Amino acid sequence: MTSDLLTQEKAIEYWEERHRESNILKAGGDRGLSDAANKLFYALRAGRLLELIARRFNPLSPLLILDAGCGRGLFSDLLSRGGHIVTGIDSSKTAIEYCIDNCSGEYFCSEIRNFRPRSLFDVVYSIDVMFHILDDRVWEDSLANLCSTVITGGLLIITDTHLKERWIKGDYIVHRPSDDYLGVTQQVGLSFKDFHPYNFGGNPIGFYVFERP
Ligand SMILES: C[S@@+](CC[C@H](N)C(=O)[O-])C[C@H]1O[C@@H](n2cnc3c(N)ncnc32)[C@H](O)[C@@H]1O
Repeated sequence: MTSDLLTQEKAIEYWEERHRESNILKAGGDRGLSDAANKLFYALRAGRLLELIARRFNPLSPLLILDAGCGRGLFSDLLSRGGHIVTGIDSSKTAIEYCIDNCSGEYFCSEIRNFRPRSLFDVVYSIDVMFHILDDRVWEDSLANLCSTVITGGLLIITDTHLKERWIKGDYIVHRPSDDYLGVTQQVGLSFKDFHPYNFGGNPIGFYVFERP
């Protein structure tokens, strides 16, 4: 843990404030992009996510899905209106209140590490969240908890860079090496399938796909 990084408490406050003060696209999207470009960025990731889900499941038959760090529900709402049974969680009260008022699906304010679902999910995904969990212990507990919510035969889809080294950007981003993702997920019985880069501008992030055999 580097001392320049926000503490866990401050990181949660940062997101709460960002959801309160930014528009829906800038709150959860890339603040360096225009709203129009962020719309494209969301469309591309939604398409990729669906494609990855469709490689294992029929995307038209209802799946139990968890969106971990759902923000203001741009992915969860789409999937829920498409017929899936979607639960969204986020640590930001403002984001969750927005989702309850505006999105389809069921929403809970919770940190990922503390979430205890009533049942397991066919698909658990977390888009652009894990690298914002700065404390290594909290990150590990959060990732292990997400793994524990995946049903046998189900998928875990997480986004981060695919690097050998840790890469810290500013005070609220820690990209962890792929070995860290593989280590935690293997320990709790998930196997790594593959990695799919976003390929959007110069964005180095992409989707890690794991499954519970
Ligand atoms: C970059 S935004 C992405 C939001 C959403 N996935 C999207 O792409 O629109 C990161 C989100 O993660 C949430 N978050 C950060 N740390 C979290 C944690 N430990 N548990 C749950 N949510 C968290 C933030 O509140 C924020 O909504």
